Amino acid sequence: MEERIISPDLQSDDRGFDVSLRPSSLAEFIGQPKIKENLSIFLEAAKGREEPCEHVLLYGPPGLGKTTLAHVIANEMGATVRVTSGPALERVGDLAAILTNLEKGDVLFIDEIHRMNKSIEEVLYPAMEDFALDIVIGKGPTARTLRMDLNRFTLIGATTRMSMLSAPFRDRFGVIHHLNFYGENEMNEIVRRSASLLRIPLDEEPASILAKRSRRTPRIANRLLRRVRDYAQVRADGILSPEIVHNALNQLEIDPRGLDESDRRALRTIIEKFKGGPVGLTTLAAATAEDVTTLEEVIEPFLLQEGFLERTPRGRLATEQAYKHLGLSLPSSNFIL
Ligand SMILES: Nc1ncnc2c1ncn2[C@@H]1O[C@H](COP(=O)(O)OP(=O)(O)OP(=O)(O)O)[C@@H](O)[C@H]1O
Ligand SMILES: [Mg+2]
Repeated sequence: MEERIISPDLQSDDRGFDVSLRPSSLAEFIGQPKIKENLSIFLEAAKGREEPCEHVLLYGPPGLGKTTLAHVIANEMGATVRVTSGPALERVGDLAAILTNLEKGDVLFIDEIHRMNKSIEEVLYPAMEDFALDIVIGKGPTARTLRMDLNRFTLIGATTRMSMLSAPFRDRFGVIHHLNFYGENEMNEIVRRSASLLRIPLDEEPASILAKRSRRTPRIANRLLRRVRDYAQVRADGILSPEIVHNALNQLEIDPRGLDESDRRALRTIIEKFKGGPVGLTTLAAATAEDVTTLEEVIEPFLLQEGFLERTPRGRLATEQAYKHLGLSLPSSNFIL
């Protein structure tokens, strides 16, 4: 499948840039002021007690900085990070091997923690609570459990799907933070910071055009910045004027509010095929040929945040703003928003 330019998911060519542009300290991390403040208190307190910090769960839509923040926490603690992910842990033994190799104070980062298998999750419970690993030896009536002590570590979990974590699992995290979409000023700062790290000359005006069209998501801002640079290099001797930035983004079919073709298609479908809604998520997915997960985790959160979509118990509704943005006329009656 073709990669969506505006998809906040990590794409093949992002990897190197993602690492080089990643802030490494809380001070460098832009935005999310409440999370930063809470984290700085929590980190300082843990350092003061000379203890590893409590387990942290970070959740929110893709590309907003969960992985970045996990590394920032480890850096601030001066801890070594071991990185794994839910789907990579296939057998109980995989996790046991990682846990027994952790040194005191290490950070274990588990990405996509909602995709971890149930039996592995259960091994994590005593590890998180008592820093112990229960190993079953033998089979049938002679089976015994052997308890092994682990070094005190900090688990940092990241997920885009909080609702998929069981309540007992969630309760074992001492700190839970929800990352939200970034504000316009924060996006501006992120674009300018990345441009300066990549040594791309970028004035205020083109920077703000880019910031506005980046879906309030740092990963997308970084990607668009690279695309615009390519465009400028080929079409305008590398100069990123406001016009060039506009043209480059238009060419990528990203509109002034940051919506791409998939976003607009979802809204247009609700309006044209379902009279503006309400329509259920699976029905909408079928009608737009979009994958339910993408619709739910990527497209919908942004449209909700921007006020183009409303979620009701009967399904999704397109708002007045959505009609206006697409240049469609509002139905005369029954319009409730
Ligand atoms: N607050 C921020 N300030 C500056 N840059 C940021 C910030 N948050 C994220 N970024 C940039 O965005 C990129 C993507 O962030 P990150 O990989 O942490 O997202 P994520 O939430 O882990 O996404 P996913 O759900 O896909 O794993 C990072 O490489 C970094 O360059
Ligand atoms: Mg990540």
